[in-house]
Amino acid sequence: MKLLKVLQTRSQSNSRFVRKRREYILEGDMGTYLRIYLIWCVIGAVFGAVFGYRLPNTVIPEHYRLEIVTDLDEDHFDFSGTVWIDVTCTSPTNNITLHSKMLDIDQNKVSVSAVNTPDHNLNITGVDFDEDNDFLIINLSEALKADEKYRVQIPFDGKLANILAGYYRSSYQDADGKKVWLATTQFEPSDARRAFPCFDEPAMKAKFTISIGRKEGYTAISNMPLEKTENIIGKPGWEWDRFQTTDMVQKGRHRPNRFRQRRRSEDPQLLREMKGAIDQIAFAKDVGPKILSFYEKYFDIDYPLPKQDMIAIPDFAAGAMENWGLITFREIYLLLDPKLSSLKS
Ligand SMILES: *[C@@H]1O[C@H](CO)[C@@H](O)[C@H](O)[C@H]1NC(C)=O
Ligand SMILES: *[C@@H]1O[C@H](CO)[C@@H](O)[C@H](O)[C@H]1NC(C)=O
Ligand SMILES: *[C@@H]1O[C@H](CO)[C@@H](O)[C@H](O)[C@H]1NC(C)=O
Repeated sequence: MKLLKVLQTRSQSNSRFVRKRREYILEGDMGTYLRIYLIWCVIGAVFGAVFGYRLPNTVIPEHYRLEIVTDLDEDHFDFSGTVWIDVTCTSPTNNITLHSKMLDIDQNKVSVSAVNTPDHNLNITGVDFDEDNDFLIINLSEALKADEKYRVQIPFDGKLANILAGYYRSSYQDADGKKVWLATTQFEPSDARRAFPCFDEPAMKAKFTISIGRKEGYTAISNMPLEKTENIIGKPGWEWDRFQTTDMVQKGRHRPNRFRQRRRSEDPQLLREMKGAIDQIAFAKDVGPKILSFYEKYFDIDYPLPKQDMIAIPDFAAGAMENWGLITFREIYLLLDPKLSSLKS
């Protein structure tokens, strides 16, 4: 019954597909529904096994520290960064395989160390790129040991894409009609690998500590609240925005008490958008927090994050992307001008 109610609520999001699914379940044909799903799972697993596009599950990421500097000058449009990934080995292996796509990686700068013995850098015998599968394969001279933790360090460079995937550029006109550039992400379903090397499969959840480097005068927002801003040493006029570490996405309703106790005192919902459209956010500002509270009551789950930003992006492929703590929207799904917007929007 609970499941049915959830689906009904979702069907109000106007999606024909969901409405159809609801009918399916209303007819009590759960078996067929499940069977179709299972068949898809089996087909997916077989394809994955035959064509080898799934990551080997021999190392599992636990934490990413990501530093990424973005240059929005028109003669640059690029980014460079370093990712430190803490992984746990689940079964002995001679390589670490993860995803990377369209990134420049200097293989001489890749390193792997044992976390418990930090001075112990492992010898890398070679770094391969498997372009069919977007794999970055780091071969090691000695096998990683099961249950040991390792840290993989990978510096990388990339171009801000002019497609709406990965880490890409977009622009808007400010109140004076001047073109202003911004950089944003669209990672679903498999484009995080275009922004930084990572284990880009949904089951491989991890915590993230993100630092965004930017020119003074720009604003950076991320999934978590800002912890501090500091100068980038050796790069005058540039600053790091360092964000708090994310928590893991919690599944199901019975979450640890820790989350229940961390009830926020202030409204976590902020709304960000370009200055030219600041007069069009009133509706979202009014309705957004109400929806969030409604769902907290409905599911009896407290919103687990310290904030929820919503941002309108001028060029956006989907309707919206529900990133953890920072939802990105196509403009027409967030902004509303009571004088100009149609009844439909
Ligand atoms: C990497 O290691 C995994 C597990 O040990 C293995 O299945 C896979 O073939 C290796 N990949 C390469 C390119 O050697
Ligand atoms: C790593 O390589 C260095 C230099 O080639 C060598 O001296 C060292 O013994 C190697 N370590 C291991 C664990 O293979
Ligand atoms: C990595 O290891 C695999 C399997 O042992 C091998 O086929 C491949 O050539 C190696 N690549 C490099 C760059 O060492």
